[in-house]
Amino acid sequence: MSLAVCPGSFDPITLGHLDIARRARGIFEEVVIAVAHNAGKSYLFELEQRVELARAAVAGLDIRVAVVEGLLADYCRDVGATAIVKGLRGGADLDGEAPMAVVNRHLVGVETVFLVSEGSHAHIASSLVKDVARHGGDVTELVPPAVATALTTAFATGAQQ
Ligand code: PNS
Repeated sequence: MSLAVCPGSFDPITLGHLDIARRARGIFEEVVIAVAHNAGKSYLFELEQRVELARAAVAGLDIRVAVVEGLLADYCRDVGATAIVKGLRGGADLDGEAPMAVVNRHLVGVETVFLVSEGSHAHIASSLVKDVARHGGDVTELVPPAVATALTTAFATGAQQ
């Protein structure tokens, strides 16, 4: 059984992430979206909500969502991952991703497979989506519907401004 792990912070999941996970499912028999939790990092959405939003986004797609507590490499070894799958929107992504791919392979031998993002998703990043939403912009074409609602709620309270 081939298993792809699609890791990330998913703060929040975007249509770009979703496209990569769906395309990974076209190659691998199983796909897990692995939501990483880094205690030293500050997120807009708590871990539980990032997982919940990812689960809503993949409903009916035969893609699972799990939490990675520690090292991604250890998680991949423990679940018997065939490969890590990540999307590349451009050269800057590769610059950031290449060292992580090398480290993960050195740690447990897991390979990283890169899929080139659709041109229509090349501009979509979680950080950008949050910035647009924070200032009241329309993110409905950038994220799944539940995420758009969650962003509106998060910024409507004023607590995250
Ligand atoms: O969506 P992001 O924030 O770009 O994803 C980065 C992520 C979560 C994939 C990376 O930080 C990660 O793998 N974190 C888990 C901890 C870990 O294994 N760190 C070493 C990476 S080489």
